[in-house]
Formats: sequence, structure tokens, C-alpha cells
Amino acid sequence: MLLRLRSLIAIAALFVRLSRADDLTIYTDSALASGWENWSWSSTIDFAASDVFEGTSSISVTSDAWAALSFKLSTGNFKDYAGLRFDISGAQPALAIYFDSVTESITSPSIQLSQISQSITPDGFTSLLIDFNNLPGSGGQLGDSIWDRLSFQAQGDGATYHIDNIVLVESIVIEPKFLSAEPLTNDIVAITTVGDVDFSQVAVNLNGQNVAFTTKSYSPVDAPAKSITYLTLASPFAAGSLTITAGDLTFNYTLPAVQYGSIVQSVNYPINPHIYGVNFPPTASYINHLGVTLSRWGGNAVTPYNPFGHFTNAGNDWYFENRASDWGSADEWVGWVSGAGSDTILTVPGLDWVAKDTTSYSYPRTIYPDQQAFDPYNSDAGNGKFSNGSIISPPMNQSAAYTPWNASLAQQWLSSLQNIPTILALDNEIEIAHSTHQDMHPEPVSYDEELERMVTFAKASKAALPNVAVAAPMTCSWWFYWTSAIGWTDTEAHANTDFLPWFLQEMKKASDTAGKRLLDYLDIHYYFQPDTSANDAAAKALRLRMTRSLWDKTYVDESWVGESPQNHQWDPDRVQLVPRFRTLIDIHYPGTKLAISEWSSTNDQDITGGLVTADALGIFGKYKVDAATYWYQPDEMGPVGLAFWLYRGYGVYFGNKSAQVNLATANPDTVGVYAATENNKLSLVIINKDTKPLAYDLSNVPFGSYFLRHFGGSSGVAKWQTTITLKANNYIVVPAYTAIFIKQQ
Ligand SMILES: *[C@@H]1O[C@H](CO)[C@@H](O)[C@H](O)[C@H]1NC(C)=O
Ligand SMILES: *[C@@H]1O[C@H](CO)[C@@H](O)[C@H](O)[C@H]1NC(C)=O
Ligand SMILES: *[C@@H]1O[C@H](CO)[C@@H](O)[C@H](O)[C@H]1NC(C)=O
Ligand SMILES: *[C@@H]1O[C@H](CO)[C@@H](O)[C@H](O)[C@H]1NC(C)=O
Ligand SMILES: *[C@@H]1O[C@H](CO)[C@@H](O)[C@H](O)[C@H]1NC(C)=O
Ligand SMILES: *[C@@H]1O[C@H](CO)[C@@H](O)[C@H](O)[C@H]1NC(C)=O
Repeated sequence: MLLRLRSLIAIAALFVRLSRADDLTIYTDSALASGWENWSWSSTIDFAASDVFEGTSSISVTSDAWAALSFKLSTGNFKDYAGLRFDISGAQPALAIYFDSVTESITSPSIQLSQISQSITPDGFTSLLIDFNNLPGSGGQLGDSIWDRLSFQAQGDGATYHIDNIVLVESIVIEPKFLSAEPLTNDIVAITTVGDVDFSQVAVNLNGQNVAFTTKSYSPVDAPAKSITYLTLASPFAAGSLTITAGDLTFNYTLPAVQYGSIVQSVNYPINPHIYGVNFPPTASYINHLGVTLSRWGGNAVTPYNPFGHFTNAGNDWYFENRASDWGSADEWVGWVSGAGSDTILTVPGLDWVAKDTTSYSYPRTIYPDQQAFDPYNSDAGNGKFSNGSIISPPMNQSAAYTPWNASLAQQWLSSLQNIPTILALDNEIEIAHSTHQDMHPEPVSYDEELERMVTFAKASKAALPNVAVAAPMTCSWWFYWTSAIGWTDTEAHANTDFLPWFLQEMKKASDTAGKRLLDYLDIHYYFQPDTSANDAAAKALRLRMTRSLWDKTYVDESWVGESPQNHQWDPDRVQLVPRFRTLIDIHYPGTKLAISEWSSTNDQDITGGLVTADALGIFGKYKVDAATYWYQPDEMGPVGLAFWLYRGYGVYFGNKSAQVNLATANPDTVGVYAATENNKLSLVIINKDTKPLAYDLSNVPFGSYFLRHFGGSSGVAKWQTTITLKANNYIVVPAYTAIFIKQQ
């Protein structure tokens, strides 16, 4: 009854809302509007649901995992519409909304429903609007592709909901609004706004005194719906109370007591430019916008890459199915990535097989009917496990999906490359091949087998491309740094020597025997072990402080690593990743470089993930990592992408010589401070990982003109930037949860 009443009220509202003649209706009642086709899949859909509705009916949808409600415009496109409005009801269904240009084979970024609203209930409809000029989450634009399809796709657990009144709106009226106001650096207040606000309504009061200011506004090139206006105050900040009034909003801050530090520019050493890398950048413009220096062709789906046909197979990540290589030809990939200004890491497959075509798969239902799960898009392809969860045995015949591979084929391929990579990586996480690629390699990989493969493929790589550096063995995680998939009996059989130290010793021996270096980079993957998945305040604080595991010899890991150390290393409960591996390299194979070709923030959507990334990039420079590539391709406009942009975006670079930073009180749990110089100009990154503002007195920071970038805090995630004049260095404010970059002009 309640719902019907709501519906009646809604009808009146609907009349007003639909009165614009130029809106394009997709659905109001009982059927799709004419001109629209049902392109949904794997879903139970009723276009005339009468249990929950507005008007006379709604659409009820139950989608399996990754299935979607999807509509296609029969002819024409909707690129000139301002936004999409719809009413939705359900228990906060997990949906991603995206748009396609079927004509151009282009898909928009996905918008999670939770980025629009987190209060969707089954008790009635919530009316939502997606502004194509200010997409939820990123603030980006849909762009001017020839959009002709839209989809509401269920996530991994499926989704059940009702949806009604789906309309493309012709225009959206933006009401001018102040959104945030925050202190920044020495004398700047940053105010974000939408629409044409009136700055005569803004006043700044510092410790009881009104402060005059001048204004300068900026809109990011890829998120122009919001603007930021920088007020330069007539008098600088000082500890105490700051109140900014803007229209009818008041923003209050307690400016804290200053902390002391100094920068010593003369104490410095080079930062390796290869630390600002990612896996698989999507486009050349992405490489430029984020300043990506190194790009990796890597991951589980390249181990079976067949360079003679560009076929691959993602193994356990996707039902052991062959497919066309996601990135086409590796040779051409190296070509366009290098052309965009990034160096490259190319993976050389190192098992005995590669994919033989784009269609075969290892575990057909017709042969193995009893399997735990089947691909929702190909019901014949199973996940290689019996329904009781154990791996299918006896192992299947590899020829079902693969063709033989060996080092001579690798050498033949590498010799034929038109585009030469910077680094060749020997396979990927080969120590867990029995799991990721159980179909190709069912037996656990031992110390000896791994070494033998690395030496064999290193020799083939060096024979084909003598001047290209070789990286190995891309070990997946802390556990496998020290032992093999066989376990501790294998370690015992090798004089109780932990795996990577043993590997370094053996690669040195093999190189000495070969008369040339077979290993240029020790390459490891690093994933923080503490569990931050709750993403609550405690998990965020943990995420932000666990960057200490990268460098801090006193930091006991807040995970099983700290609780049950499982290796023969010194301080086995403290990761101290970079210093530890530098030391192991110095002991076992001096001169080897250190690469981290996979690492991640633990949450790419949350602002704390962006702050972790900015902190880690500072640490990699300060502690002399030689190369690092983020896993996976960070969203350019998300917090992690912005951390790369902060250091390197659009050709404005953090200096390439790391300068010494001395802090009276370091507080590494809540702050990261990184300094560098280039051509005697200072650049500085400060990451405030705390939930309140901080203030520094930093001696030796020269006065004068600086380029300023920042993201986070109440300004949010956007490419905010300006130029400022630093008139004093004794009170530099960084807002809560914010990373700032300043570079002397
Ligand atoms: C729309 O497509 C879905 C998925 O293919 C199908 O189950 C449903 O019956 C279709 N509905 C109509 C009205 O065509
Ligand atoms: C902000 O500070 C002003 C001036 O001290 C005070 O009048 C006001 O109540 C404060 N507002 C909030 C929301 O704390
Ligand atoms: C799981 O099922 C398979 C096939 O029925 C069987 O061979 C295997 O022993 C079972 N494993 C366990 C742990 O029960
Ligand atoms: C695997 O399949 C191939 C091709 O069908 C066949 O030649 C080979 O004998 C099979 N191997 C085994 C061990 O069954
Ligand atoms: C590698 O595989 C190719 C093609 O199957 C074969 O001709 C060659 O003999 C193999 N080389 C070695 C060293 O096994
Ligand atoms: C650092 O940058 C300067 C100026 O752009 C450049 O001349 C120099 O080669 C760079 N050094 C390194 C190690 O990249």
C-alpha cells in the first residue's frame, strides 16, 4: 500500500519531470519506448512488473554475476544528451553503469551505483541522475563518442532490483554551489565550486581577524564541471582558528602548532626515473598525462602469450580459456608505448606451452561434467576444479589448448622484434604456476626447476638481444621470497637457504660460468600483507602507515608476517623491503638492480589508496628502487592515477635527485615528506595521511614562485593545480588526507 501511495505522489512529480519535450524516454511503463532494443543478457527481466512501480509498472531485474540489463538505440545516438535519470529500488544492488558506442566499439568508464548513492532501499524508488559532464566518482565527462547503448551490469554476486522512468535528459540546470574551502601552503585558501558562484559572499577570518584576499580560478582539463579558486591571503596562516564563510556555508579549521624540519639540497643522489611505472597503460595520452616512465607487459595472462599468433589464456583468472591477446602484438605494443615516451618491460613466457588459438579451453564440461563453476559467458568452459573444490586430476592433456614452447622459440621471437624493449622479464610468478596455470604445469615448481628455467630463458634472451636487461623471477609475495611451492623440505634440501638469496647466489654462479651477467634486475612483486579490506577508519589508518614496511627497519608488520615469521632472515617480522633486498643483493650478487614490477595500494578507489601511492613513489625514490610498475593500470582520474600525475603529469616532473629531508619528529604513520632537486630547483611532495591539517616550518625552502599541485582532502580527487608565490616557509599547511607537490619555478 505504501508503495502505491508513493507511486501516486510520484506520478505528479513525473509529469513535471517528463514535461521537457526534448528528453528521450527509454522506459516509463510496460515496455521499452519505441526505438530501443533489449540487449540484456543472463538476466530474468519483467518489463511490466507490478509489485514495485511508479506509474503503472516498472522493470524488475534479476541478473546473474556479470550479467546486465542493457538497452540499445536502434538508430542514431544519444551523445548530445546532458545526462541519464532513473528511479531504482532494491537493497543497494551492486551495479556498474556504463555506456557503449556499438558503432565505434568504445566503452565508457564504469560508474558504480554506490558512487551515486549508498542509500538505495527496497522500500521505494530513489531518483538518480548521472550528469554526463560531471560523472559520479571522477567528475570527468562522458566524451563525444557516438553513444548508442547503456548497461546496468551486476557485479560478482549478481543483482536484484526494480528500475523505472529511465530517461536521457536534454539539459541539466547547475545550481551554483560552494563545495569546500581549505587552507593550503602558506597563505592560500582553496575553494571548490560548481556553477557560477559569487565570491563576494566569501570571507576569511584568521584568529578573529578578517583577512583580505585576491582570487585565481582553475578548472581541470578533464573534469571541468568543478572549479577551484585559490584565494591568496593578505596575511599568512598561523596556528589558531581559521573560519571561511562562503554563501551560507562555514568551514572551520584548527590550524595546528608547527612542526620543524629542514631540506638539505646538497645531500643528494639520483632517483631512478623507472620507479614511476604502471602495468599496461591504456593509451599514449595516458602515458603523457600521468608521466608514466616504464610500462610492463606482464601478469598471469601473458605467461601463455603466443607471439606467433597473438593468442593467450588467463589461466585460473578466467576458466583456462584461450583468447586473442588483450593487447594485440607484443612487438607493436612495445612500439607504441615507446613512441609515447615510456620505457618497457616485456615478459618472455617461460613454461613449456603457449596458447594455440583464440577459442580452445582446458576443462570442457563435455569432458569434465563435474566442476565447481563454469564461465557465465561460455557454459562449456569450467574452472578446473571438481564440485568438491579439489583440482581436476589426472591432469588434462595440454594439447587441448596449448602448443609447445621452449627457449629456442623464445629466441627466434625475440630476434625478430622490430621494437626493442628496455627490460625482458622471464615469465611471471612462475613459482605458483601449479595454481595460476595448473593446466599447463600441474606440479609445484621447485627451487631447481625455477632456476633452470630462469637460466635457460635468460640465455635465450641475451642471445637474441644482448643489450637488453633481464629481470627475474617476479616472485609473487613475501611467502615465496623465502620458499617454493613444494615448501620447507625444498628449502632444507638447499642448505636451508631461503629462496631469493639462493636464487641470487645461483644466478651469480651461472653468470660467472656463462661469462656474462644473466640477471640484471632482481624483480619482486610486493603486496602489503595487512588486511585493510574493511576500509573503515582503522583499516584506512593501517593502510596509510603500512608503507613503512617498504623502508622502516623498526616497523613490525601488522599481519601474519609479524606474527609468524617464516624465513631465516634477520628481523624476520619486519619487512623493511627495500633495505632488506639491497642488503641481500650486496651479499649474494652485487650490482644487481632491484625492481618491483607489481605492487598496489590495496584500494584504488579510496583516497587513502592514492595517498599510499604518493607515499610509496616518494619512498621508491628516496630508498633507491631501480624500477617499479603499479598493478594494475590505475584509473587516470582516480586517486592512484593522481598520485602518478602529482609527481610526473603532463611533463612537470618531481626532481631527479633525491634531497635530504630532516624532520624534528618524523611521524611516518601519518606523514611523508620527499624532496628533490633538478637544475638546482627544489621540488617537494608532502603527504598528510592524517585526518586533520598539519603545518611545517621547513628551513631551506627558498621563497619565490612555485608550481603547485594537490589532490585529496575536502577538495577531492581532481587534477588541481596553480602557481603560487611562497613568501615564507615557517608555516606551510597541508590539509587532512591531502598530497601536495610544489616545484620551484
Ligand atoms: C530481454 O533480454 C533478456 C535477456 O536476454 C531476456 O531474458 C528477456 O526475456 C528479454 N525481454 C524482452 C521483453 O524481450
Ligand atoms: C566556526 O567558527 C565560528 C567562529 O569561531 C563560530 O561562530 C561557528 O559556530 C563555528 N562553526 C562550526 C560549524 O563549528
Ligand atoms: C573430489 O571429487 C573427486 C571427483 O569425484 C574425487 O576424485 C576426489 O577424491 C574428491 N576430493 C575430496 C577431497 O573429496
Ligand atoms: C594429447 O593430445 C594430443 C593431440 O590430441 C595427442 O597427440 C597426445 O598423444 C595426447 N597426449 C596424451 C598423453 O594423451
Ligand atoms: C623447440 O620447439 C620447436 C618447435 O616445436 C622444435 O622444433 C625445437 O626442436 C625445440 N627446441 C628445443 C631445444 O627443444
Ligand atoms: C636529470 O634532469 C636533468 C635536467 O632535466 C637532466 O639533464 C639529467 O640528465 C637528468 N638526470 C638523470 C639521472 O636522469
